[in-house]
Amino acid sequence: MTQDELKKAAALAALDYIVDDTIVGVGTGSTVNHFIDGLAAMRTRIRGAVSSSEASSARLAAHGIPVFDLNGIEEIPLYVDGADEIDGRFCMIKGGGGALTREKIVAAVSARFVCICDASKLVGTLGRFPLPVEVIPMACSHVARELARLGGQPRVRENFVTDNGNLIIDVHGLTIADPFTLEARIDQIVGVVTNGLFAARGADVLLLAGSEGVERRLR
Ligand code: A5P
Repeated sequence: MTQDELKKAAALAALDYIVDDTIVGVGTGSTVNHFIDGLAAMRTRIRGAVSSSEASSARLAAHGIPVFDLNGIEEIPLYVDGADEIDGRFCMIKGGGGALTREKIVAAVSARFVCICDASKLVGTLGRFPLPVEVIPMACSHVARELARLGGQPRVRENFVTDNGNLIIDVHGLTIADPFTLEARIDQIVGVVTNGLFAARGADVLLLAGSEGVERRLR
């Protein structure tokens, strides 16, 4: 199977977690795109979705799935999203597509986070994938200097602006032994909007697609 076929298999397995007559939290990325396409076939069973990016909102709307503003919604039963890396404790690096801030917000409001991945995303230690950090543009140089002090090599993502009008710094060369501490530490740098470590709010379920099928792991 190709990597894209594995992504699709993981994404379609997440449809089993849909709670009827509720609003579904929807992440961003190529794996989630398969989930959105699968969700279209069940759109009469759900009230609609809360989306983590303009790209996912457009795809949901194209399928006729209503997209709700998060404000006014107290809790979402299910959030489905991919990851760039996930470890054995279900801590993740996310934000390869630059949607990390809205992803973290929707995940925070959701009761259950189902992570959908092909098997290549499961790692022993996070950090091989460069860690995305969303920053306020005027703070970019300051934040980059602070990130370098933490031991990484920061690189501003070229020709990219987030849905929130900010920049992304990708931090290369980190070996993240303690994602919980590093997530909190980076958030303390003035000018950082969000960092792509999802440790404090990790995944609850991992649907990992490999050549043998989709493995369902619980935290
Ligand atoms: C988007 O900002 C990311 O967090 C994605 O969820 C993550 O990069 C996974 O993307 P793919 O499903 O495209 O691999």
